[in-house]
Amino acid sequence: MIALNKPLRGPDETDVVAEATTKKLGHTILFSHEVRSTNQWAKHLAKLGAAEGTITVADTQKRGRGRLGREWVSPEGGLWFSVILRPRLSAQEATKLVFVAGLTVAEVLKEQYDLPVETKWPNDTLVLGRKICGVLCEASTSGGHVDFVVIGFGLNANFLVRDDLPVNLQNTSTSLQDELGKRVNVEKLFHCLIGKLGDLYSLFLSKGFLPILEGWKKHAGFIGQRIVVTDSDQKTAGLALDVDAEGMLLLKTEDGLIHRVSVGDASFK
Ligand code: BTN
Repeated sequence: MIALNKPLRGPDETDVVAEATTKKLGHTILFSHEVRSTNQWAKHLAKLGAAEGTITVADTQKRGRGRLGREWVSPEGGLWFSVILRPRLSAQEATKLVFVAGLTVAEVLKEQYDLPVETKWPNDTLVLGRKICGVLCEASTSGGHVDFVVIGFGLNANFLVRDDLPVNLQNTSTSLQDELGKRVNVEKLFHCLIGKLGDLYSLFLSKGFLPILEGWKKHAGFIGQRIVVTDSDQKTAGLALDVDAEGMLLLKTEDGLIHRVSVGDASFK
């Protein structure tokens, strides 16, 4: 559980941790032991007008959601949280926030635990080929501009994959406890992630996408590898050449064509 400083009792079973700080993100942290989905909760609050930087956190999610409509299994011990952002960006620019989030996770896991992290297009963080964290960005837009974005982080922290994830995920997933052989201080990790996200978000807003993309690519082990991209039922195999300045994957198929892929799930061939 995230340790709470100055918990206030909210209108329901929620602890509200409201700290007036100079930090842009995390001025309001809402915690609940169990929710359906912290993203769903954050989106609900954002629709009611919650400010940028509001965060929802839970020990466990009953209906955690992954990308492409998948379920996200969220046992206790994981770090499941969502951040509300209100960038003044076009809907197209805001899609790049997934890289801000991915770089946040990669840098924090490297700095805190010296793990051999890799970013995998578009939203995964891997350790030695196994997924340790996924990010789900959901935006509400009107007239081509962003009203809010919710970025949800699902980080497998203090549990063992063999004990707490279903069999079908065990070969492709890992956790911090599996990698480090011990449990981590999840409160400290949470605050590191929020601090880093705030820094990289500011960098993105002030300097644009390129410094983010450069940082993200430094961890991108899949570039130069043969991969398969799955979108709905369609699978496309090819060589991952690069990620371009719009965040699109450049995939060279066997016929020599180079495809700019905007959506999908990449796996190694
Ligand atoms: C993925 O890799 O498919 C994205 C997974 C994102 C999971 C997180 S857990 C916290 C937040 N709440 C959700 O329901 N999903 C995201």
